Amino acid sequence: MRIGLIGFGSMGKTHAYAVRNLACFFEPDGIDAEIAAVCTAHPETAAAAAARYGFERAVTDEDTLIEAPDLDIIDICTPNTLHYRTARKAILAGKHIYCEKPLSVTAAEADELAALAAERGVTAQVVFNYRFMGGVQRARELIDSGRIGRIVSFRCAYLHASCTDPAKPAGWKQSKSICGGGVLFDLGSHVIDLIRYLCGDFAEISGRSQIAHPLRLGIDGKPWQTDADEAFYMTALLKNGAVGTLEANKLALGTNDDLGFTIYGDRGALRYSLMQPNYLGFYDGTKEGGDLGGERGFTMIECVGRFPKPAGVFPGVKAPTGWLMGHVLSMHAFLSAVKNKTPASPSFEDGAYVQRVMEKAGISSENGGRIERL
Ligand SMILES: NC(=O)c1ccc[n+]([C@@H]2O[C@H](COP(=O)([O-])OP(=O)(O)OC[C@H]3O[C@@H](n4cnc5c(N)ncnc54)[C@H](O)[C@@H]3O)[C@@H](O)[C@H]2O)c1
Repeated sequence: MRIGLIGFGSMGKTHAYAVRNLACFFEPDGIDAEIAAVCTAHPETAAAAAARYGFERAVTDEDTLIEAPDLDIIDICTPNTLHYRTARKAILAGKHIYCEKPLSVTAAEADELAALAAERGVTAQVVFNYRFMGGVQRARELIDSGRIGRIVSFRCAYLHASCTDPAKPAGWKQSKSICGGGVLFDLGSHVIDLIRYLCGDFAEISGRSQIAHPLRLGIDGKPWQTDADEAFYMTALLKNGAVGTLEANKLALGTNDDLGFTIYGDRGALRYSLMQPNYLGFYDGTKEGGDLGGERGFTMIECVGRFPKPAGVFPGVKAPTGWLMGHVLSMHAFLSAVKNKTPASPSFEDGAYVQRVMEKAGISSENGGRIERL
């Protein structure tokens, strides 16, 4: 499967990472994919991306990729207002599509794309990536198997701090003409998808938006009136009768990538935070209480490296999220030392020190815990 990637900012790189590393994370399963071509807005960024990542070709005209007979898939990683145009052309060209969220910036456009993709028989997926987190998958499994009973209410919030500093110039995500809408489209699309995925379809929604810093410097460095919501608060009624709140907020000082939810059923509850992705909190309301608490209380389920099958083989089910990054940094430190002819650290001396301590500890153990000096 040969992919044409359009847009090579943070998400373009993220998708390239995913495609490039499939072979690491999965046993051979017949899936063989590569990003063959990249398209960005500028020739120099396209050429740099291709050179660095080994893509065969680099272009600035997306039609070159959409119409290329040697490409099977178009991967859309551009700003939101461009998704519709690109996806529509790609569907009509018979390409399969992997498109970043939000699918588009109006419901009419999105409905048209969904209908067109179905009519043309192409495979089309939106990148609601949080569905694939181990804790979210386990939450869905517990809900589907009835362990929390009938869902009564929920809270879901996605909190960032990226709009808290009024001195920070606006990016395209604060410009309605590029983003289509502010944080509602950006973080809110994830929150809405997650609640629907876990709890069910929506019956009613109400919303309130907020712009706390209406004046900041614009993309061009000149004073600029913010026109996209910086926070968005919703209450919703689902078709199954559950009621809850959803929040997408970039005014949340002190947060990083804080996506979380709590779901209350009539038999149990679930609690998840993307900042603590190794665990899913599960409260089993059928457990006996007692004078001293009995067995009641939230259990922290060890999701850790247990990702949806067939993933989870590598780096292994016990490896916490983020564990691999330590290895990446370790290897980079070593290669940098080789390249720069500087001492490596941790060094062989560090290794030998640990070895001496282990040897003494072993001797001590063999001698009834005798104190050994180093
Ligand atoms: N699923 C997620 O976790 C997640 C996270 C962040 C962003 N996103 C989504 O990904 C998309 C891209 O966001 P990003 O953060 O990567 O933005 P970004 O600003 O980092 O990158 C956008 C890229 O698009 C390129 N571009 C702009 N106009 C173009 C054009 N006409 N033709 C070709 N390339 C063009 C830019 O040069 C840039 O490389 C957005 O839709 C956003 O909502 C998803």
